[in-house]
Amino acid sequence: MNAINKTSDSERYARCIHSSKRVRWDVDEDVIRGRRFDAAHKFLPDGLSLADTFTTLVASEKRFVSQIQGRTYANVFGLVERFINAKVLELSRDHWFGDQVALEALVRFSDEELKHQALFRRIDTMVRDVLPDGYRFDVDPNGVAHAVLGKSTWAVLALTLDIELFTQLHYRESIDPDAELSDLFKDVFLYHWKEESQHAILDELEWVRHDAGLTAEERDRAVGEFIELVGAVDGILQAQAKSDAGYFAAKCGRAVDAAEACAIEAAFLKAYRWQYIHSGAQHPQFGKVLSSLITESQGQRIQAALATLQ
Ligand SMILES: [Fe+2]
Ligand SMILES: [Fe+2]
Repeated sequence: MNAINKTSDSERYARCIHSSKRVRWDVDEDVIRGRRFDAAHKFLPDGLSLADTFTTLVASEKRFVSQIQGRTYANVFGLVERFINAKVLELSRDHWFGDQVALEALVRFSDEELKHQALFRRIDTMVRDVLPDGYRFDVDPNGVAHAVLGKSTWAVLALTLDIELFTQLHYRESIDPDAELSDLFKDVFLYHWKEESQHAILDELEWVRHDAGLTAEERDRAVGEFIELVGAVDGILQAQAKSDAGYFAAKCGRAVDAAEACAIEAAFLKAYRWQYIHSGAQHPQFGKVLSSLITESQGQRIQAALATLQ
C-alpha cells in the first residue's frame, strides 16, 4: 500500500470516530423516549414489508403482517449483530500495536453494536406487548455466530458490508410519507442508520485491508464461502417466513385455506429476502467494493447464487 492510501485510510478511520461521537444516541433518551407501540400503526413501511405482494389480504391484515415483520426485524438484527460484533473485536487485534485511530474506530463500532443489540431486544419485547401470543423466533444468535465465524474473514466482511449498507435503504424507505407508520419504529430506522453509516465505511476499510493479504486461491475460496453464508442466511429466512406465516394464519381472525397459506408464506419469504439479502447486495457501494476485489467470473458466481433467491 502506498503512502497516499495509508494517509487517506487513516483519515477515513478518524472521520468515522468524529461522526460516531457527533451522532451518538441513547436507547431510552433518544430512541424510545417513554413511548410504546400502538397496534393501530404499521411497524415496517410498505416498501420493506412488500405489502403489495400479500395480494389476498385486506389493509388491516397487511398492517398485522408489517407488525409481525417488525418483530422479526428486531430479532434478525439481534442475531446478525452478534457475529458482526465478534468479528469486529477479532479484527481490532490487527490494530492493537498499530494504528490507534483505527483501533478506536473499531472499539466504538463494537460498543455501538452492543447497544444496538440491547435496543433490538427492547423492541422485541415492546412489540410482544401489543401483539397476540404465539410468535416464535427460534434461531440462537450464538449458534449462528459460531457457524458464521467458522468461515473466512473475507466472506464474513462481505456479508457484513451487505447488511450494514441495507440499513441505509431501510431508513430511506421509512421516511417515505405514510401517516400510518409508527413514529417509534421510524426512529429505530433513523437512529440505527446514523451509526450504521460509519460501520459500513469501516467494513469497507477492513475488507479491503484484509483482502490485500490474501492469495488468489484464498480469495476464490472466500467467494465460495460468501455464497454459502448467503445461503445460510436464506435458510434462516425460509424458516422464519414459514413460522411468521403460520402465526399470521393462526391469529388473523379468519380461516386461511392451504392455497392462501402458501401464498402468504411465499410473500413473507420474498419480503425477507428483499430486506436481508437483496437490498444490500443491490446497493451500488456494495457492488463497487465487491467488483474491485474479485474477478469477473467470481462476480458471475455470486450473481448466479443471488439469482436463485428470488
Ligand atoms: Fe447495528
Ligand atoms: Fe453495525
